[in-house]
Amino acid sequence: MIQISGLKKYFRTRDGRVEALRGIDLEVAEGEFCVLLGPSGCGKTTTLRCVAGLERADAGEIRISGAVVSSSARGVQVPAEKRDIGMVFQSYAIWPHMNVFQNVAFPLIRGRRQVPRRLVAEKVRRALSLVQLEHMESRPATDLSGGQQQRVAMARAVVTEPQILLMDEPLSNLDARLREQMRLELKKITSSVGVTTLYVTHDQAEALSLGDKVCVMHEGEILQIGTPREVYARPDNLFVAQFVGEMNFVPGRVTGAGQVDSPLGQVRCHVPPRCEPGSELTLAIRPERLTLKHELNDGSDGVKGTVISKNYVGDAALFEVQVRDVILRIKLPGDSDFAIGNQVAVVVPADHWRVYTGS
Ligand SMILES: Nc1ncnc2c1ncn2[C@@H]1O[C@H](COP(=O)(O)OP(=O)(O)OP(=O)(O)O)[C@@H](O)[C@H]1O
Ligand SMILES: [Mg+2]
Repeated sequence: MIQISGLKKYFRTRDGRVEALRGIDLEVAEGEFCVLLGPSGCGKTTTLRCVAGLERADAGEIRISGAVVSSSARGVQVPAEKRDIGMVFQSYAIWPHMNVFQNVAFPLIRGRRQVPRRLVAEKVRRALSLVQLEHMESRPATDLSGGQQQRVAMARAVVTEPQILLMDEPLSNLDARLREQMRLELKKITSSVGVTTLYVTHDQAEALSLGDKVCVMHEGEILQIGTPREVYARPDNLFVAQFVGEMNFVPGRVTGAGQVDSPLGQVRCHVPPRCEPGSELTLAIRPERLTLKHELNDGSDGVKGTVISKNYVGDAALFEVQVRDVILRIKLPGDSDFAIGNQVAVVVPADHWRVYTGS
């Protein structure tokens, strides 16, 4: 288990002080796979490095399995090599002058968790079979593909059977197909080992597919923590709504209880209690929640628009439809027969809207 509370970290640079972490509170349960998701510079790597002991926090506390490993108030800073952690970096950082076996054996021979020689081979082979590289023991590290190097890095991180696994964008150097394959592998490996994992990415698809829990970060803060479904279905604020998945945003003005006037006409939705009639809001809805019809037959539940683009992607088709001064993105099944220039009715559902104050 990892418990982080009130974690702050500043860096001094020539341009002044950078507040990299502004008070991070996070708990990762035993065996849980937790993803830190956020744009470049939001503090993901800094958080991971503080947990690893590679960075000293300016405030707050970190506990691993209940034991304080970092506390600025108490002056505690357990050195990295004394924390029971495996780490995989974006660059893999495997040693080019060693073969696969030697790379994976390294933490067992040199690290703090040294094991008797006779156990080394057994542990290395177990780690390599976990990542399906058991047949490549004697291959020089330089003769491996990107995906294989990535697996070696994984095997090396888990060979000591650490309590905690930290991974910083470990898949970002791989091509799209391999990345998807490795994503599935990675999930299998970590859940079969049952290790508590903190995983960093700026790729929202990766975060949603891997995480038991996703933490969306922005400018040194966590804006939302939830299951992938919660974060996707109910983003707490505009930043999360924009950053995770595709979203349509429509400006609106409250006209009454549960009623908002918008370029799509009157939308029925949940208006926050503090919003008086006349207050401005932003309405948000996912592209897959909107549908199209060829025409308005009864005028009850649709607004007129024009198809301005179509992007066929096989199993789905993504449309852009101009409705007054708003362009809506709409995701339909791949065999939908709407074409550019068609006059259509956008069916606007009453539920599934998220409502945000501000714009
Ligand atoms: N050693 C350092 N010295 C000065 N500033 C730093 C240092 N390391 C990080 N920062 C700053 O702290 C902030 C957080 O950086 P961090 O590396 O944690 O971001 P990140 O979320 O991992 O981004 P990326 O997705 O680009 O890797 C950034 O503004 C960064 O410029
Ligand atoms: Mg980073």
